[in-house]
Amino acid sequence: MRLEILQGDITTRDVDAIVNAANSSLMGGGGVDGAIHRAAGPELLAACREVRKEYPGGLPVGRAVATPGFNLPSRWVIHTVGPNRHAGQTDPGLLASCFRESLAVAESLGARSVAFPAISAGIYGWDAREVATVAFDVVRNFGADGSPALELVEFVLFSPEMTTVFRDVSG
Ligand code: AR6
Repeated sequence: MRLEILQGDITTRDVDAIVNAANSSLMGGGGVDGAIHRAAGPELLAACREVRKEYPGGLPVGRAVATPGFNLPSRWVIHTVGPNRHAGQTDPGLLASCFRESLAVAESLGARSVAFPAISAGIYGWDAREVATVAFDVVRNFGADGSPALELVEFVLFSPEMTTVFRDVSG
């Protein structure tokens, strides 16, 4: 499994699945969530409404679900809910779960390539270095455990600063 770190807009990535740093409501928001909904078009919100029927109380933190990508180059969007540090969600296990569950969903879809943003490193207030550390740990373990389908995992970071942090942490 190849691991790549890129700077840019995740909504432009031509990979099988992009991961959305969503919130429990799955009804969109700011940051990367807003960008993904805008780029995918209104059908994405309708698909999220359907998924929400299975989670009347909202998608729990650390979980992940998939919808089609509609107008995006990527075939699927995998929505995960990162922990919100401002709400006292400081357990790195919850963040690890986001990455792990998203990879598991990608694999179950038969995706060969998946792109991640820096989950929880924006509005949810996590330190970029901590997010990168958790992300690499989970992705490398997932790769080591042998995922025959998944060939490429990208981290697509919006700012040069975040990209530097991820490159630094990746060694
Ligand atoms: N491509 C890649 N990364 C992006 C993009 C983009 N187009 N836009 C922003 N980022 P955030 P969170 C980066 O706040 O911290 C939403 O309202 C951004 O610079 O999007 O998990 C949800 O609905 C940052 O580095 O996600 C939730 O309510 C990273 O993506 C809440 O925000 C994550 O920042 C989730 O907060």
